[in-house]
Amino acid sequence: MAEVISDIARMQQTAESLRLAGRRIAVVPTMGALHEGHLTLIRKARELADVVIVTVFVNPLQFGTGEDLERYPRDLDRDASLASAAGASYIFAPSAGDMYPKGFRTSVEAGSLATVLEGRSRPGHFRGVATVVVKLLNLTRPHVAVFGQKDAQQVVIVRQLIRDLNMMTDLVVVPIVREADGLAMSSRNVYLTASQRAEAPILFRALQRGAEMVAGGERSAEGIIGEIGTLIRSRSGGVIDYISIADAVTLEEQSECRPGHQLLISLAVRFGTTRLIDNIQVTPA
Ligand code: PAJ
Repeated sequence: MAEVISDIARMQQTAESLRLAGRRIAVVPTMGALHEGHLTLIRKARELADVVIVTVFVNPLQFGTGEDLERYPRDLDRDASLASAAGASYIFAPSAGDMYPKGFRTSVEAGSLATVLEGRSRPGHFRGVATVVVKLLNLTRPHVAVFGQKDAQQVVIVRQLIRDLNMMTDLVVVPIVREADGLAMSSRNVYLTASQRAEAPILFRALQRGAEMVAGGERSAEGIIGEIGTLIRSRSGGVIDYISIADAVTLEEQSECRPGHQLLISLAVRFGTTRLIDNIQVTPA
């Protein structure tokens, strides 16, 4: 069973000793409520390092007012045993008070990458993500950090901050893990009612349809976005927040799908009070 560490100083000492002992450290940052997506990241981390630290912290800084901070599912015992079984040696689960003590002031801004897509709908979200990721990397001092492509914009921002702030951690990205019917696994899927759950796989089917259109030579982003939107609206009660075709690296919105240009098709859709995101990458031939 993995050792659960909640104390910040103890985490720092542990990371320091592991480094001194020449162990290769991988970290998998999470907010808990672990599912098969997270466990795939942990198994990947275990392949890449001697010691895997899974962080479990529901980061208040990345939740907006009216978002689901209070109702976010929490079960540390369950998370610790699942993470251990997947290969974690340590679970770092600090308290919010220790992470953000009175007088905490510094934050990390990712500039224009943070104000588009998810950042437009969730102002301040990526300031919270970037700040906590820097803190978690400083506390665990990993050689490698494993993130999921499920949160594509988060990956772009973490890659940027690692480069900009000279952090000595390699970023490894794991493809999206899906349910058998295509729905991207998410801790938030438990909020869905049975009928919403039955409709939600349309998101991936619509993204696949978009990717097929790009592969088939369709150049107009508007046309593809229109088709994805029509599919979602006609097959579900989902309310579309955004559908985007952007440059996969700069996240700049594209009007044309140019050959050889790596694109990120991404979307956010609300089912009742539950907001789901998904994405697919495609490079037009
Ligand atoms: P959380 O939503 O718990 O996700 C933790 C990691 O698991 C992220 O890298 C996310 O992309 C990955 N992940 C979640 N569902 C996945 C799926 N279906 N397939 C593949 N990877 C998946 O992302 C966060 O937490 C937070 O923003 C965090 C980085 C921990 C900072 O607070």
